[in-house]
Order: sequence, then structure tokens, then C-alpha cells
Amino acid sequence: MSIAEKFLTMEYGPAPEDAKEAEVWLDRHGRRFELFIGGAWQAPAAGEYFDSIDPSNGEKLAAIAQGSVADVDAAVRAARAASAKWRALTPHARARYLYALARLVQKHSRLLAVLETMDNGKPIRESRDIDIPLVTRHFYYHAGWAQLLEQEFPEYEPCGVVGQIIPWNFPLLMLAWKIAPALATGNTVVLKPAEFTPLTALVFAELCQEAGLPLGVVNIVTGDGATGEALVKHPDVDKIAFTGSTEVGRAIRSATAASHKRLSLELGGKSPFIVFEDADLDSAVEGLVDGIWFNQGQVCCAGSRLLMQESIAETLMSKIRDRMSSLRIGPPLDKGIDIGAIVARVQLDRIERMVAQGIAEGATCWQPRVALPARGFYYPPTILTNVHPTSIVAQQEIFGPVLATMTFRTPKEAVELANNTVYGLASCVWSESINVALHVAAQLKAGVVWVNCTNMFDASCGFGGYRESGYGREGGREGLLEYMEPAWFKHAPAVQAAISHAPSPVLGQPEEKTVGGTPAIDRTVKLYIGGKQARPDSGYSMEVRSPEGRLLGEAPLGNRKDIRNAVEAARKAESWAKATAHNRAQVLYYCAENLARRQSEIVHHLAATVGEKQASAEVELGIERIFSYAAWADKFDGAVHNPPFRNIAIAMNEPIGTVGVICPAEAPLLGFLSLVLPLVSVGNTVIAVPSETYPLIAGDLYQLFDTSDLPGGAVNIVTGHASQLLKTLAEHDDVDAIWCYGDEATVAAAKALSTGNLKQVWTNEGRVIDWFNPKLAEGRWFLEHATQVKNIWVPYGE
Ligand code: NAI
Repeated sequence: MSIAEKFLTMEYGPAPEDAKEAEVWLDRHGRRFELFIGGAWQAPAAGEYFDSIDPSNGEKLAAIAQGSVADVDAAVRAARAASAKWRALTPHARARYLYALARLVQKHSRLLAVLETMDNGKPIRESRDIDIPLVTRHFYYHAGWAQLLEQEFPEYEPCGVVGQIIPWNFPLLMLAWKIAPALATGNTVVLKPAEFTPLTALVFAELCQEAGLPLGVVNIVTGDGATGEALVKHPDVDKIAFTGSTEVGRAIRSATAASHKRLSLELGGKSPFIVFEDADLDSAVEGLVDGIWFNQGQVCCAGSRLLMQESIAETLMSKIRDRMSSLRIGPPLDKGIDIGAIVARVQLDRIERMVAQGIAEGATCWQPRVALPARGFYYPPTILTNVHPTSIVAQQEIFGPVLATMTFRTPKEAVELANNTVYGLASCVWSESINVALHVAAQLKAGVVWVNCTNMFDASCGFGGYRESGYGREGGREGLLEYMEPAWFKHAPAVQAAISHAPSPVLGQPEEKTVGGTPAIDRTVKLYIGGKQARPDSGYSMEVRSPEGRLLGEAPLGNRKDIRNAVEAARKAESWAKATAHNRAQVLYYCAENLARRQSEIVHHLAATVGEKQASAEVELGIERIFSYAAWADKFDGAVHNPPFRNIAIAMNEPIGTVGVICPAEAPLLGFLSLVLPLVSVGNTVIAVPSETYPLIAGDLYQLFDTSDLPGGAVNIVTGHASQLLKTLAEHDDVDAIWCYGDEATVAAAKALSTGNLKQVWTNEGRVIDWFNPKLAEGRWFLEHATQVKNIWVPYGE
């Protein structure tokens, strides 16, 4: 064929990447890999191996050790043994190690990229230009944090030994997202790569050796889900960080509920890609190619739901079909390939099954006419139209190159459709109107919003989900907090289980029924729901007695129905989140003013239970705590990040939503205020169960809120047995988070019961909090748990 003819057809020739170095590396290891434990290679205890396959042709690449319970135990021991020394290093020394790792990844970047593509099936263009550069960036960025750690987080300690479990879609990148912040903050690590893609993690183990990383600081245990499970259940692991399916995330939540392991979960998504009629449609199409066909759509934040404004739907669809027809699908080591291989046969089957089900539910399927390679696991780019919002293909993660499309008319409808999912990982908004784009971005329930761009990532910008997409962030300052705890909290003593001397009837105490010969007025409080006092559905109340057994009054015995009403009221009051921060601050200041006005009366009430001295301190410090959160309301700002692209990323601290709070038993007023106020100050709405020791405080509190212009429903109070009310709150699908302060058993129950919709759960881990010490009982640490960060990426330039 002549050059002139080629010019006419514009056909691509093959442009294969040379895999020689990777083959040499595999051969040098005899195509068989052991476990990396304590800085050395160890054969698996049970002598079992599994195959890692090249999905582009189905051929075996290497035999990989299957880590057993015994191997995981050995790795955790090695990490524990290395922990004290690693922590004791100066921040600068740790920074040097991280810097060395960054440099080594950079130096071996081509080997890593080629191996990643061979093991995973992703186009070399992506592993070479996106994955590996981001890995390097992550280590550089966290070398910086290691250096600054003591200055920026002087009172924090590392969690200790961290178990990390990663998926197969971005094998080395997920490793970097996990290992870099863990090491920077002084933790040691046991990491389990995904069984489909372990190879680059094994190269990384060699890089750790090359960098002279102290033995045992990083341990890599390969294996399948059973190996992951052994790591999750190991009693000497302090934290689990997981990325993968929502189903496994749930299993991990349950498995860790009764322990004090910290947990961060980065789970699935069904991210909307919203295109408004004023968008630059050609750019949007290119964005969409990245959004859903990048990495064969095997991306947690893939823009898998295209929402188009009705007026441009036809034009946009025709542009998308044209573009799809020019996508090149084939061997991923070819540099001109857009779509490579699906990671494994089982994933390919899953995609085929889900698409078939979508079609059975009424969707129309369109695929360009492309020839698929004869060997290996390939799936063509696919678009589904006529998709009903409830169809499986609109609701569940397909994790393949399949786009479900829907239309909308107004921005309001777009937001409703976009949020109509249990997930909340990412989203895209395309509009040339910055007002519309940012207005919509603010309303999307997602951890990341890309305005007029797609799939932008940077180590400085935290990444993570809302709702069932998980909790915790990776990257940024907030990502570091996942691997540290305030020292005072870590070492706080355990709550004694029997602090509560709650409402059990006490017999044999004479009751004072008259005051100076006149019958005493009954002191019975009510529930407080939607800004109104309410009688309990049960029609029962419980006696509240002083420690000596004197009857102080009665509190309603709230039940499931009352909690459900309170949740409904809290949901309806979500406009509290939209009130200006200044407005929220004013309401809180007013609360403080009113508490001060009724100071002596409330001290008097409280003194009967906690004594005069504590009662005075609770009210005095209560006023101060309200002032603190009034002050914070308009100061707990987000940040503007400057990633190394022509983008800014606006990191917003957003409220989590509706939060259930189980208040501590020991400080009825101050404990309540210390938990409810940080939540309310940043715009959450709350259902609080006050201290069982003295639930009558509810009466004083709702009078306070009523007289201070707090909108009805922003705070709801349900008295009763905490354990029963906790169950309803934790199992309620419309509650977004639980804060539970109590003994070991109560906090374990809170975590276990919250697995259903994967609520964020924050507890005292059964430890004593000194509510009377403002350094420990208020401030940023509370506010950080009361918010979740949303990063809105906005490009600039022409
Ligand atoms: P998975 O969630 O089973 O695997 C992810 C990691 O968890 C792997 O390392 C695996 O060995 C480990 N694992 C599995 N069971 C475990 C357990 N009980 N305890 C601890 N660790 C365990 O994901 P899988 O089966 O590979 O993919 C299935 C679907 O999950 C995909 O089609 C996709 O929808 C979703 N997924 C989502 C990812 C994301 O980034 N959000 C990543 C991978 C999968």
C-alpha cells in the first residue's frame, strides 16, 4: 500500500509496546512468586499457588502464592515488629524513604506500565500515561506530608498495623493510594493485592528492598478473598482500608464491628454524567469516552449513567455513536488501542449477564460494528437507550464499557435522576454556564464532581464516596486522618459498662408527693419531633430517679414509630443545611444566650442526678461549647486545591445529612451538646437519644431550641432505652450516619446494625471522653466527623 493510499484510508498500523523487559523480569523469577513478609520472600505455608492470567490472550503469566491464615499472621507479626522503630523515625527520615519510593517508581515506570497492562488488560496508553505517573505523584506528595507531619499534626499518632485490600482495576495505583499515606503517618502495612492482578505489587516489594525500607514496614500477601478475610479478622490489625465491591465492603463492616479496627471503604458507584443543552457537546463526547470507556469501564467512578437534556439528546447520541465507531478495541499492548481486555472471564460473563438483563427489562442495545480479537476477554463499547430509572442497568454497577442513557428536562430533574441511586462516588456536569454547573454540583450527592472534565485525580484532592460508595477519603489532608488518631483518644481508658443507673424502678424509697401540703406538679417531659413536643407512640413513660432512688420525673418511652417520625422530620428539615453559615451561627449564639438565662434552673434540675458541682460545670461549659460551635459554624471552611493541571478543585466540607446520636450516659447536658452541636453547626439534622441517666434533660433542651429559632426538625429528641432506639436508628435506611457514645457492647452494636446502608459510624470505641476538657471534647476532630469532603473540579483556560 502506498503512502497516498494509506492517507486515504487513515488506517492504523500496529504499534506494539515491547514487552521484553517484563518477560525477562517474569523469567528471572521463574514465573513463580512467593509472599513478601518481613522484607524477605517466603513460600506460602500451605504450599498453594494460583495462576495470574494475561486477559488479552488468556495465557498464564505466572504462579502466585496463595496466602493462608498462617501467612497473614506471619505478615501481621512482621508489621507489628517493625512498627515501633518505624514510628520512632524522624518525619524527615520517613520522608526520605517515601521520596526514594517515588524515584524508584519513576525509574522503573516502563516495566511497571507494561506489566500492569499484561496482568490487567488495560491499554498501555493508560497504564503508561495515567496510572504510573499518578503512582509517582502519590509517593512524592506523601513524602511531603511525612516531612510536615509533626508540625501539622502534633497531637496525632499512627493507627499502628494497617491491613489494606485492593482491587484489580488500578492495581498499582490503588497500592499507592493505600501505602503512601499509611507510611507517611508512621503505620506499617500488610497489603493484599487482588488475585487477578498481583504482579506490579510484587515489583513494588522489590522496590521497597531497593529503597532499603526497614524490614516488615511493607508486607505483601497475595491470595484471594479468603486471604483478605484472614487479614480483616486478624486481631492484631488496627485498621482496615478496603477498595472493592459494596458487597465485600458490607462483609468487612460486619466482620470488624466488634473490634476497634478503624475502617475506610471505597466502594462501587453508578456515577451520573450530566449534559446540559448549553454544553460544548464535542468536548462532552470526549469526556464521555474517558468517563465510561477508560479502562474498559472497570472504574469505580465511571460515568456509567448518561443524563442528557431532552433538547440535545438526539444530536448528542448521534455524536456519541460516531465517536464509538472510531474507538479501537484490541490487544492492550498496542499503543493505538482505546479499549483493551476485560480483566477476567468471570467479569466478562457478568457484563454479558447484566446487559442481557437490561435488555430484558426494556433497554435497547447499540454497539458499533467492531471486530473483537479472537482470543482473550473483550467486550465492545455499548450504549443502552430506553433505560428505565429502576432498571438493573441504571441502578447497579456493571463494571464494563456499558453506558446507560436517560433524559431530563430541567436542572431539578437532572439532580433528582442523578441522586436516584444508593451510591455517591463521582459525577460529571457539562454546561457552559458556570452558574448552572456549580448550582447543580452543590446538590449532587457525590464525593467528586467534575465540571466540564472527567476522571481528574490528584494526590492533593481527597477521593471517596457518599452513601453506599463508602466512607473515608484517599488523598489530601483528609486522607491522612484515616491513618491517625489523636493520642489522648487512643489511650483513653474504657468506659465502665455500668455507668448508667438509668430508669429501672427503685423500690422502698418514700416519695415526696406534696410540696408544703399542696400536691407537687408532675414533671413529665415529652419527645421533641419536628419542632413540636410529642407524646410517645407507646403511651408509656419511664421513671427517672436520682442515684439515691428519689423519683425526679418521668420521660417518655420512645419506640420504633417515634424514631421513624423523628427521621422523617429530620429529613424534611434538610433546608437547615442550606441556611447560611452566618445564620446557623446566629441561631447557636441565641441558644447560648437562652441557656445562660435559665442557668440556675437547669443546674438545679441536673444537680439531683449528677450533683451540684458537676451540674454547674455542665451548664457553664455547655454555654461555652455552644459559643464554640457558633464560632466554628462560619469558619470550618473547605479548601481550594491546585492540582498539577489547568484545574482548581474546590474542596467543600458538606454535612453528612441526617444523623442519629446516642448520647453518653455520664454528662447528660454537656455530652448531648458536645455531640449534637458540631453536627448541627455544619448543617446536619439530628435525632438524638439523650442520656439514659437523666433523660429529663430533654425538657430543658427543647425549651432552649424552641426559644432560639432553631427550625423545627433540625434537632429531634427521643427518650427511651438507648439500645432499642439505637437498633431502629442504625437499621433505618434514611439515616446517613450514627454517632454512638457508650460502652463496648453498645458501640459494637451500632457498627453491626449499620451495615445495611453502610452508614458512617463514629463512636468513642467504648472509651471515656472527658467532656469537661475543651481540648479533647470539641473542635476540629468533631467537625471532621460531622462533614464529608466533596471535591468540585473546575477547569480554566481556553
Ligand atoms: P471484590 O470486592 O470481591 O474484590 C476486591 C478485593 O477484595 C480483592 O482483593 C479480593 O480478593 C478481596 N476480597 C474478596 N472477598 C473478601 C472478603 N470477604 N474479605 C476481604 N477481602 C475480600 O470484587 P470482585 O469480585 O473482584 O469484583 C466484583 C464486582 O465488584 C465488580 O464487577 C465491580 O462491580 C465491583 N468492584 C468495584 C471496585 C471499585 O473500585 N469500586 C473494584 C473491584 C470490583
